[in-house]
Amino acid sequence: MKNKLVIGNMKMNLNKDEIERYLQKIKQINNSNVVICPSSIYIPYFLKYNFEVGIQNVFYLDRGAYTGEISAMQANSLGVHYCLVGHSERRTIFSESDQLINQKIKNIISNHMVAVFCVGEKKGENLEQVLNSQLMNGLTGIENLDHIVIAYEPVWAIGTSLVPAKEEITMAIRYIKNLVKEKFHQDITVLYGGSVNVENIDDLNRIKEVDGFLVGGSSLKPEDFIKIIEVAVKE
Ligand code: PGA
Repeated sequence: MKNKLVIGNMKMNLNKDEIERYLQKIKQINNSNVVICPSSIYIPYFLKYNFEVGIQNVFYLDRGAYTGEISAMQANSLGVHYCLVGHSERRTIFSESDQLINQKIKNIISNHMVAVFCVGEKKGENLEQVLNSQLMNGLTGIENLDHIVIAYEPVWAIGTSLVPAKEEITMAIRYIKNLVKEKFHQDITVLYGGSVNVENIDDLNRIKEVDGFLVGGSSLKPEDFIKIIEVAVKE
């Protein structure tokens, strides 16, 4: 079985002391197929322990008068190699449009980082229509997808303990891979995200279309995160 990529999205969680305790518990993980995305201010702590680190968000330009923003250029200069983009929380809470997401993806890959491009439908939406428009808009004008990983995350599965049936995940990921193949003539890595936990990881890991996982809530629990990694990532 091919080695999978596991990305932990810690979102806006933990204070400094909690981060230090968390690091002590997970520092044994030393695998280039495991990426941790802490709050940006904690990134240097994770780099110190040689983790592969991702940033949860960047601006779409390298530098300038954009108070409060962080650029991919800056993150990459620290040694951060991955960046989440298009996450449903950014789309919904911060009204990020497909066009902005497209600008961010272009900037991320031009800075030699991997863009982890999140897509997924809300409950009741037409799956293929949503995936088609998010992907086509997000990838407009991009010729080489070598530094892009897609994360399929049904919005209704994020943070809810609800997970689609295996057949539904298979269908959605096949749709994404086929569409990318047809339009860009390239194979693409597709992760599954949305309520991945210790109870469902064995089953999810058996879906052969899934190339890895984007883990939110469970990445905050060291024992659970380690178990998920043990199942998905072989040495
Ligand atoms: P969850 O979050 O694992 O807590 O559902 C996933 C995500 O938002 O990427």
